[in-house]
Amino acid sequence: MMSLQDRLSEAKGKIEGLISTKELEASVSLKESDFKSKEPWGWHDLNEREQQMLRNKWKTETLNERKVDTEIYSAAIIEYESILDKMDKEGLSLENINENIQKFTVLRGEGENAELQEYELELDEGMVILDCMHRIQYEQDPELAIRWNCKAGKCGSCSAEINGRPRLMCMTRMSDVIAETPQGQPIEVRPMKAFPHVKDLVTDVSYNYEVAKRIKPIKGPDDPNWEFNQHEAHRVQQFRECIECFLCVNTCHVLRDHQLFDDFAGPRNLVRLAQYEMHPLDTEDRIPEIKKEFGVEYCNITRCCTEVCPAGIQITDDAIIPLKERVVDRYYDPLQRIWRTITRQKVRY
Ligand code: SF4
Ligand code: SF4
Ligand code: FES
Repeated sequence: MMSLQDRLSEAKGKIEGLISTKELEASVSLKESDFKSKEPWGWHDLNEREQQMLRNKWKTETLNERKVDTEIYSAAIIEYESILDKMDKEGLSLENINENIQKFTVLRGEGENAELQEYELELDEGMVILDCMHRIQYEQDPELAIRWNCKAGKCGSCSAEINGRPRLMCMTRMSDVIAETPQGQPIEVRPMKAFPHVKDLVTDVSYNYEVAKRIKPIKGPDDPNWEFNQHEAHRVQQFRECIECFLCVNTCHVLRDHQLFDDFAGPRNLVRLAQYEMHPLDTEDRIPEIKKEFGVEYCNITRCCTEVCPAGIQITDDAIIPLKERVVDRYYDPLQRIWRTITRQKVRY
C-alpha cells in the first residue's frame, strides 16, 4: 500500500516527466501577451469562459509542439488533483503530511555484515515501534527479520534497543520516542547488543535457557505443610511476572561489556534462583552454586537491570540482594559459622 505522500510524488513526477506545469503556464502566458499585443481590444471582448477556452487551446498547442500526448497529460493532472482533493478531505496539507513522515534507521543484515538502513514511514495515530517495523515489512522490505508474538507486552519476544535504550517494541509508543528524538533525526532500532546476532533485529538468547537448565528445581518436603504466611507467597509472586524478555540481561554490564557469560547467571536467572530459594515449601540448597557457578558476587548492584524491566520486578533489591545476603551468611559471617558448629548443622560450601 502506497502512502498518500508517495502517490502524490509519483503523480507529480509523472507530470514533470511529460512537461512541467510551470513551463506550460509560462508558454500560455507568452501566447496570451502575444495575442493582447496584436489585438489589444479583443481579449477584453471575450467573457471569462471564452478566455479559459482560449487558454486551454494554447495549452494543447504547446503540448502538441512538445509532442506530449494531451490525453496522458490530462490523466496525470486529474490524478494529481484527485490526490490533493483526498488530502483536503482528510484535513492533510503538504506541510502536515510531511509531519506524519518519520525517518528510521534499522540494523539490517547478519553478524559482522549488518549495517543501518534508512526508511521513511507515514505514521498513524497511536502506533508503537512494532507497528512501524511491520509497516516497513509490509510496504518496503518484506525480508526484515523481527521476533514477536503477542503484541501485548506478555511474550517477551520483541525486545530491541530503541534509540539506544533496551525496550519492548510492542510497548514503546511512537509519541514517546518522537518526543525524545531530536527533530529531523531518525529513530534508531537495533537488536539487543549483549547476545549473538542472528539477523536484522533477531538475536540468539539461548544462553539464558542453558543457564536455566542448570538451576536445581524446587524440592518440597515429602510431607509438606501447606500452611504458610501470605507475605511468604507475596514475596515470590513478583518473580513470576517475568516475561523472559531478557532486557535486563542485555543491560547488565557484567555480560554486555565484560562478556562473563560462563561465570555469571545474569539478572533473569538470578530472579529465577530467588523465586526458588524463597519459595515457602522449598528445601533445596543452592547457595554454593549461587556463589560459585552463578557468580552472584559479580553483580555490583548498579540497578540498571531493574530500570529496564517491563514487568516492574525489583530485580536488584528483592531478588539479587537477598541472594547475596544468603551467600554472606553462609560464607562470611563468623557468628553464623560458630552457631552452625555449636548446633552441629551440616551445610555445603
Ligand atoms: S544490578 Fe547486578 S545484575 Fe543488575 S545490571 Fe547491575 S550488575 Fe547486572
Ligand atoms: S526480569 Fe524483567 S527484564 Fe528480566 S527477563 Fe524478566 S521481565 Fe524481562
Ligand atoms: S510481542 Fe510479545 S512482548 Fe512484544
